Amino acid sequence: MTPQRTRSTTLRFLAEPTDMNLYGRVHGGTVMKWIDQAGYACAVGWSGQYCVTVYVGGIQFYKPVHIGHIVEVNAKLIYTGRTSMHIAVEVHAADPRDGVFSRTTRCIVVFVAIDDQTRPSEVPTWHPTTPQDIELQQYAVKLMNLRKSIEEEMSRQE
Ligand SMILES: CC(C)(COP(=O)(O)OP(=O)(O)OC[C@H]1O[C@@H](n2cnc3c(N)ncnc32)[C@H](O)[C@@H]1OP(=O)(O)O)[C@@H](O)C(=O)NCCC(=O)NCCS
Repeated sequence: MTPQRTRSTTLRFLAEPTDMNLYGRVHGGTVMKWIDQAGYACAVGWSGQYCVTVYVGGIQFYKPVHIGHIVEVNAKLIYTGRTSMHIAVEVHAADPRDGVFSRTTRCIVVFVAIDDQTRPSEVPTWHPTTPQDIELQQYAVKLMNLRKSIEEEMSRQE
């Protein structure tokens, strides 16, 4: 059977009371867990291999997520390296009474596919075709270059 490669994944569920912080909203850490889960499903769906998170960044919390609201976590591949996959993740939430979704959080996550010995393993290359996807790929490359400067700066403090 030919493996099905999927470039994007959406998780959809209700924010539960167990996700609640002291202010009656969802914990930031819980939102980050959802982001990691959606990104993981997306990376495995593309590569067909187990993957590990190597980077999470640029996370922005625009709005709180309320308990009982419907949550949608969309993860989309926007760049592939040799073994890495850069994934843009967005979280949207809606009151189920009106179903109007608004964006609450976004970030970039990088996963690396690994083999049985947990060594980095090559992934299929993603080739963007639409102007929008080409722009997303360029955005991922730009962020990667910005991160290199940040890492250089941080390494001076080690
Ligand atoms: C994944 C891991 C095996 C890779 O090992 P490594 O020695 O860094 O391997 P490499 O230097 O060959 O890097 C592999 C890829 O990861 C990318 N990478 C590694 N660290 C990165 C980071 N912090 N940010 C972005 N990309 C990173 C490299 O650019 C490279 O990408 P490419 O092959 O597409 O060019 C190792 O970093 C690891 O085990 N990290 C911990 C993962 C983990 O425990 N995650 C949390 C739980 S899932």
